[in-house]
Amino acid sequence: MSSTIPTALITGASEGIGKAIAHKFADHGYNLVLAARHSDRLEATATELRQQAPSVTVLTIPTDVREATQVNDLIYKALERFGAIDVLVNNAGIYISGPAEEFSLEDWQQTINTNLWGYIHTIHALLPHLIERGSGIIVNIGSIGGKVPPALSCPLCH
Ligand SMILES: NC(=O)c1ccc[n+]([C@@H]2O[C@H](COP(=O)([O-])OP(=O)(O)OC[C@H]3O[C@@H](n4cnc5c(N)ncnc54)[C@H](OP(=O)(O)O)[C@@H]3O)[C@@H](O)[C@H]2O)c1
Repeated sequence: MSSTIPTALITGASEGIGKAIAHKFADHGYNLVLAARHSDRLEATATELRQQAPSVTVLTIPTDVREATQVNDLIYKALERFGAIDVLVNNAGIYISGPAEEFSLEDWQQTINTNLWGYIHTIHALLPHLIERGSGIIVNIGSIGGKVPPALSCPLCH
């Protein structure tokens, strides 16, 4: 069912910048789809948002953005509930720092799988819907570290 109230889907919405973005969208009357891995923190954020903006609907969908199948499920459930997604905010990210020679391959893989593939997974799953509708906005949260690399922050990957 399509809603006239716009909907924003935010990854990494349980903490930090993603949570702050969710509060801003709630202030502007958007329905919200919140994604992150840990459902307890996600639910705590949803409770705050429902208290802040009782008129908006907040849907939490525990998701690991590194997993394409989970992201496909996220997009499917969001569309099933709201009929459309007007804004996708790719925000879920991890940060590790230190001398590059001390990073394990696992460190590199986890960072790239989250900060790069996580964004690709959501875009790949949602883009056909946005094209079909002829509208929609994708916001990819990056880092100034991708433009001016600071010391000891090699795998920022933004
Ligand atoms: N804070 C900064 O100074 C800064 C600077 C430059 C860029 N950024 C970028 O801004 C974004 C947000 O940063 P932040 O500092 O707000 O981060 P944060 O406070 O550590 O929050 C990260 C959020 O992402 C979620 N997340 C992490 N891995 C995930 C995964 N695999 N799947 C789904 N959700 C995942 C976390 O929840 P779960 O752990 O429950 O999954 C949490 O909700 C990141 O992309 C970061 O690179 C931040």
